[in-house]
Amino acid sequence: MNWETIYRRKVTDAATALACIESGNRLYVGGGAGGPAVLIDGLCARAPELRDVELIHILTFIDAPYVDPKYEGHFRDNSLFIGHNVRKAVQEGRADFTPIFLSEIPGLFQRNILPIDVALVSLSPPDEHGFCSYGVEVGTTKPAAEAARYIIAEVNRQMPRTLGDSFIHVSRLNAIVETDYPLPEAVQGRSTAEYMKIGQIIAEMIPDGATIQMGIGSLPDAVLENLGNHKDLGIHTELFSDGVVALFEQGIITCSRKTFHPGKMVAGFLFGSERLYRFVDNNPIVELHPTEYVNDPYNIARNDNMVAINAALQVDLTGQVCADSIGPVFYSGVGGQLDFIRGAARSKGGLPIIALPATAKNDTISRISPLLAEGSGVTTTRNDVHTIVTEYGVASLYGKSIRKRAEALINIAHPNFRDELTHAARKLGYL
Ligand code: COA
Repeated sequence: MNWETIYRRKVTDAATALACIESGNRLYVGGGAGGPAVLIDGLCARAPELRDVELIHILTFIDAPYVDPKYEGHFRDNSLFIGHNVRKAVQEGRADFTPIFLSEIPGLFQRNILPIDVALVSLSPPDEHGFCSYGVEVGTTKPAAEAARYIIAEVNRQMPRTLGDSFIHVSRLNAIVETDYPLPEAVQGRSTAEYMKIGQIIAEMIPDGATIQMGIGSLPDAVLENLGNHKDLGIHTELFSDGVVALFEQGIITCSRKTFHPGKMVAGFLFGSERLYRFVDNNPIVELHPTEYVNDPYNIARNDNMVAINAALQVDLTGQVCADSIGPVFYSGVGGQLDFIRGAARSKGGLPIIALPATAKNDTISRISPLLAEGSGVTTTRNDVHTIVTEYGVASLYGKSIRKRAEALINIAHPNFRDELTHAARKLGYL
């Protein structure tokens, strides 16, 4: 049977496609900007018939109506990385959070630690051979779908066809719902004077020819905006956004000096504006792969001059970094931070950077603090940490004693807090 016939037989409406879902099932929801919004609405319409259905996912940008208190007992959300749409529910105990490295999320599904009954995904239309692309979210969605018992796919006419290890044949899908709506557009990070200064400092540390990874939050854009005079930069990162397109168009990102996938930007997922989504469509310079590949520290390290740039919420005077919670209150997740810190640390000429504004809440809180707030998790350990950057400068911590670390970190704290930090460091026996 040719693939067109197979495809046509599987096309149905959302209600019919979702009829296979039973109480007690675990569902995987396609992540990032590749969320299946029509299937989610259809699922919520079925709520009265279902109980104890678990929805598991990374950061998603579509609405997450299933965390509404009215669905309690019907649906239970389980985030592997907390986004704005589920944060309140997690913080109120109405939804779950499972800490896990981005590099290891595929293994949860492949090794049946979290077996998936049904994957709800969003794909590009099939090509002439019957292959759909996972589009803007390959990283964890492809491995989850491949491990699922049942795959329900939206085939969205507006999902770009990204290249790489990003395809599934229509014969593998169990039900198809054809859709046509724009992908959610990501809000750009905050562009404050502090972030611009941090961006400038980091840009000066990045050599021409480096391969860069940028984490999530306001930091990536601030760094990218300061790279306008660089040459031959490469990209190997879990995610990227519009800033990368601008640098490619200016001829600054060429990937020509990359030592792993030369000539290619490698990523797990993408979110940004329509401009980004059109740029990556069928573009051979961009390759998307599952995160067990992109985020594997050994693969990351195959890029010489790998610069990993990730943000943080708090750093203590020994160099422990917290990026996923504010005290005991969960905010996001580890994502790929430690994967890339470790990969960059192993790379020849590599540079693992953690950067954060020196203060939060209008300069009332120093983000560099004597101890992490009670209940904080350690995202990057003090054994892994290399370089911390704030708008006041750079603290090189690797191979340094606690005394030297405390001194270096106090030097890049906001001046208003330096005396207080010095006093606390003495009391703790660090100085
Ligand atoms: N104490 C209290 N509140 C703090 C704080 C602190 N030490 N540090 C930050 N905050 C508040 C901020 O004021 C802000 O609140 P607001 O939104 O009400 O203004 C909020 O926490 C978020 O902080 P901000 O620094 O603006 O976050 P961001 O959007 O730039 O993202 C991280 C930074 C660290 C949260 C983000 O990079 C992340 O989630 N990282 C996860 C790990 C990672 O880096 N993975 C790699 C990418 S997958």
